[in-house]
Amino acid sequence: MVRNYDPDRPVPPEVVERLLEHAIRAPSAGFSQGWGFLVLADATDRERFWRAATPESDLWQRWLVNMRSAPLIIVAHSNKSVYLDRYAQPDKGWTDRDERRWPVPYWDIDTGFASLLILLTAVDEGLGACFFGIPPEQIPGYRAEFGVPAEFTPIGAISVGYAAPDHRSGSLKRGRRPVADVVHRGQWSG
Ligand SMILES: Cc1cc2nc3c(=O)[nH]c(=O)nc-3n(C[C@H](O)[C@H](O)[C@H](O)COP(=O)(O)O)c2cc1C
Repeated sequence: MVRNYDPDRPVPPEVVERLLEHAIRAPSAGFSQGWGFLVLADATDRERFWRAATPESDLWQRWLVNMRSAPLIIVAHSNKSVYLDRYAQPDKGWTDRDERRWPVPYWDIDTGFASLLILLTAVDEGLGACFFGIPPEQIPGYRAEFGVPAEFTPIGAISVGYAAPDHRSGSLKRGRRPVADVVHRGQWSG
């Protein structure tokens, strides 16, 4: 993840389109494709995003100082109702639309897959990017500011741009967990 950007170097429009074309190649349960993306490339729109979607607290605004230099923000949204509708169709048959049928919320997972394709495409294009969450208490104000319909939930925002000198995230001190710690071969335990 890159958290500081060259503010004078916008992402070329054809690259923005490639990020989005790749996003929609993500896999999705039942090929539901229940996602939606808000693209903010204009400086005024980005400012509206920072104002509506992030808390005013010093803690938040401190880490956002450099993030605000991003020339492009893409907000990824999931739409649960598209999945419930899709799986109520005859080839799936879950006409009760019971959410307990779902082992995990695939609407959020699939939108996460699409977000990862945006991140990977950014790397391919020589760009930097960072995925970050919108705090729950900011979501009503964010929705109102941009007219996002109630059935769409912003699962996170992706800042994109050409990387500028950056500090490494403190979280990286945790180190990467080795494969041997997280992979179980043949049997988990017992
Ligand atoms: C769901 C999710 C939420 C994240 N939220 C934030 C965030 O709010 N702020 C931030 O600086 N980084 C955020 N990150 C980035 C992680 O901190 C980063 O991926 C992790 O430290 C590993 O670093 P790397 O991606 O540069 O290898 C988030 C990543 C994910 C997948």
